[in-house]
Amino acid sequence: MKVTKAELATVGVKPEQYPKLFLPEIALSGRSNVGKSSFINKMLNRKSLARTSQRPGKTQTLNFYLVNEQLFLVDVPGYGFAKVPKKEKDAWGRMIETYIQQREQLKAVVQIIDIRHEPSKDDQDMYTWLKHFQIPVILVATKCDKIPKGKWDKHKKIISNVLGKHPDDPIHVFSSETGYGKDQVWGAILDYSKRKVELEVSPIDEES
Ligand code: GTP
Ligand code: MG
Repeated sequence: MKVTKAELATVGVKPEQYPKLFLPEIALSGRSNVGKSSFINKMLNRKSLARTSQRPGKTQTLNFYLVNEQLFLVDVPGYGFAKVPKKEKDAWGRMIETYIQQREQLKAVVQIIDIRHEPSKDDQDMYTWLKHFQIPVILVATKCDKIPKGKWDKHKKIISNVLGKHPDDPIHVFSSETGYGKDQVWGAILDYSKRKVELEVSPIDEES
């Protein structure tokens, strides 16, 4: 996908603060510091539109990035980072749960996993939770620049086994450093955005 326009359109915490536009939305999910904001920057060809940090806990709100006036990528706080006070972590958790469960425009969640490590208990719980609510999941194994290409398949297998991955969910190998996997992941995102929208509009088309 050729990104011609990308902007941070809305920052929200509560449903009344979500964007008023009815466009497909694709949200990120993943452990704190795994590279969600970096993923957004790479996908949008923008160095620092989404704020990143070497310290976990950088993203603290739901940040809606409008892409080509066509869809939103939604950056979210990460989970599983011990140093954020529990009260705050719980509030982030509730904010994300509310958004994912209630948002009609949400077409899929990009779950980001670090290709180098076994998925954590939090990663496993998140994947199970998304599947339970029948939210389509796009699995992205990021930071592939940090291990040799010859090891990617082995690490993908470990991720697949530990997550108890559904056979229909491919793992897309990715790097925000090199851009590896970008076109493939855009393909998946556009597929989910389009497919669902068509499903929703088709009954109306038939009636008219
Ligand atoms: P929170 O907002 O705290 O939840 O973190 P995040 O998931 O948004 O992570 P962020 O994008 O801020 O990245 C965390 C760190 O990982 C930064 O230092 C990034 O430069 C680094 N990083 C992210 N993706 C990659 C990647 O693909 N390769 C390499 N080598 N480093 C990466
Ligand atoms: Mg972030």
